[in-house]
Amino acid sequence: VAGQIQIDRLYTLADFEAAANQQLNFMASEYLKAGIAGEVTLRENRAAFERLRLLPRLFEDVSAIDTRLTLFGREHASPILLAPVGYQKIFHPEGELASVEGGNLSNTTFISATFASFTIEDICLRAKRPAWFQIYVQNDRGFTQELINRGVTSGCEAICITADTPVNGPRERELRAGFHLPPGVERANLRSLGSTLANAPHRNIYTPIRAANVTWKDLEWIRSICKVKLLVKGILNPKDAVRAVECDVDGIIVSNHGGRGLDTVPATIDALPAVAEAVSDRVPILMDSGIRRGTDVYQALANGATAVLIGRPYLHGLAVAGAAGVARVMEILRTELEMTMGLMGRARLSDISTQTGL
Ligand SMILES: Cc1cc2nc3c(=O)[nH]c(=O)nc-3n(C[C@H](O)[C@H](O)[C@H](O)COP(=O)(O)O)c2cc1C
Repeated sequence: VAGQIQIDRLYTLADFEAAANQQLNFMASEYLKAGIAGEVTLRENRAAFERLRLLPRLFEDVSAIDTRLTLFGREHASPILLAPVGYQKIFHPEGELASVEGGNLSNTTFISATFASFTIEDICLRAKRPAWFQIYVQNDRGFTQELINRGVTSGCEAICITADTPVNGPRERELRAGFHLPPGVERANLRSLGSTLANAPHRNIYTPIRAANVTWKDLEWIRSICKVKLLVKGILNPKDAVRAVECDVDGIIVSNHGGRGLDTVPATIDALPAVAEAVSDRVPILMDSGIRRGTDVYQALANGATAVLIGRPYLHGLAVAGAAGVARVMEILRTELEMTMGLMGRARLSDISTQTGL
């Protein structure tokens, strides 16, 4: 099979990125690549990982390396999840359904975006392991509650409230590429709001499909109505992490939205240690933004994360080969993590210590 041969010849996530850029049209590849404004944070997400160094220990028995993680009572093949990314039909006709299938193939949890191009019901029907659902709080809080309930009823294990984008930033790369929702791509979860909102362009400061007046009171309210695990995504400031824990969330996601929120904020790997110290093991900390190598996953865990999410890399896999591409990206990254653990002298995730540094 041509596709099969092709992905077997892709050895790194960077190989997938290059292959995806050859396949995608200009608008799609620019939308995926884009950071915000001058893309300082987008570059810094990579630069910060590349500045870090590992210091291995020798003569440890690493004959049985094990990347399995139990999180919220469920076993994950590795501490890596698939981040919420909107409009995946732009990258592949099967969109999110193929990504979920890639998750099935690799025992990886898929987090659906509010702005997915398939409904949360359709996505959960495909998911062999419970998906998570990312929520952008809507101006209509009743509709927000409806979205959360739809996710829970469909079998989602967790709700992630994305908090880092109350307004839009200057997405000049997208504007230059003429980004728009192509025919056949919609915000399927928002269908009931009518096509004007479901297809609203969001190019101004405010957008009709993400509320700008969300406060901690809303988070408390969401906690009171949300019967599954609740996480806040987009935390960088330790003070916000503490505040979120005080609102009784089950986890936090340290993220700068892959460099797409506010430009010039720190790389997440640099923000993570202070957040981890402030949270001090009260809830699990997940992190994303810039993870491309097994050594990056290792550094995240060594700096206080329980697990990580990847965004763009699995969309590259999706663009190149659908579900099989997503699964291959996961296989590459998990294998690199295993190799890193072995070479570091740490056979189990619990051996990766934040106390002793690495
Ligand atoms: C094209 C694209 C669309 C995204 N859409 C969403 C979204 O709808 N909701 C959300 O919470 N995060 C969204 N994100 C952010 C991702 O969830 C994640 O934080 C980020 O991609 C991680 O960085 P990475 O791409 O460097 O791995 C999006 C990211 C990209 C690249």
